Amino acid sequence: SGIALGPYTHYMQKEIFEQPQALSDTLEGVQFVTSAIFGHEAKEIFQQIKRVLIIACGTSYYAGLVAKYWLEALAKVPCDVEIASEYRYRESVPDKDTLVLTISQSGETADTLAALEHAKSLGMDKTMTICNVATSAMVKQTRLHYITRAGVEIGVASTKAFTTQLASLFLMTLAIAKEKGRLSAEAEEKLMADMRHLPQAMHVVLEKENEIKEWASFFASKNNALFLGRGVHYPIALEGALKLKEISYLHAEGYPAGELKHGPLALVDAEMPVVTVAPNDELLEKLKSNMQEVRARKGELFVFCDQGTNIESAPGIHVIKMPENYGHLSPILHVLPLQLLAYHTAVAKGTDVDKPRNLAKSVTTE
Ligand code: G6P
Repeated sequence: SGIALGPYTHYMQKEIFEQPQALSDTLEGVQFVTSAIFGHEAKEIFQQIKRVLIIACGTSYYAGLVAKYWLEALAKVPCDVEIASEYRYRESVPDKDTLVLTISQSGETADTLAALEHAKSLGMDKTMTICNVATSAMVKQTRLHYITRAGVEIGVASTKAFTTQLASLFLMTLAIAKEKGRLSAEAEEKLMADMRHLPQAMHVVLEKENEIKEWASFFASKNNALFLGRGVHYPIALEGALKLKEISYLHAEGYPAGELKHGPLALVDAEMPVVTVAPNDELLEKLKSNMQEVRARKGELFVFCDQGTNIESAPGIHVIKMPENYGHLSPILHVLPLQLLAYHTAVAKGTDVDKPRNLAKSVTTE
């Protein structure tokens, strides 16, 4: 590619470190919460809708899962998230008051385009996309859109597209909440200030690269890994597992920590590293007891925890401290170390990081 790598070894590493900039570019010019940035029909559509249906594939699908937590918590709008290749072929119940939202880096993913077409054919005409390519088919085929300004993403494993999707989804959540009269002026001001401070907070997390790199050789010697998270960080656990499997070829699974005892605990032994996403939130105590379940079976824990969580390194427990809890926007910070862990594990294994075997950047055929 014509884009210079600069001080980086791979495009994926470069793109991980571009995230603070990509995020501020995506938020550029957005001073306060307004529907107009999503299109001239957005105000009316956001007022009318009773539900949101998110459709996407891969990493974009996980961005959608995070948005479900935000939409229901902040805008009080019910949200379903569907894998495009499932939605397009199943018999579903169409609803005219639903916002159909596709999320796509490329805007050309065949299954997502077909799922959008399918929703429209069922009479669902309130359509929107969050997309990184302004000239793409997806943008042309939807009434509302928001363009992420991640810039060109070359690494097949998506990183900066994901975090800019999340920022856009958060803006959309606030805009819908505002149209529904569910966003107080104080909340708006506080959450927008948090958004603007995010790039700086991301820099602080990215400084953990060397600490994370030290963990990578352990992962490179294993065949499996489990990723645990709860609540809005459950989709982040899924994304961490996806990154690891895509580029390092380890078998990795993301699980909601509370489901551990309903299956994956049977797999835990000294050969199973368990990555835990541990924000300092109301689910922390529950998560800590899940971690004890892992330790009791000799699983090796790798914990990314916020300041103030009181989780300390001990035999079998490796800890990297994140900044203080970042509230609703915390998943945007917690995904960064997981991207770096996958990246350095892949480098340690010597895989083709930017072009993993069998995968394509954009899947334009079924
Ligand atoms: C491929 C890519 C993934 C991406 C997915 C969806 O599988 O390798 O990184 O998340 O397609 O792509 P989209 O362009 O629709 O976001």
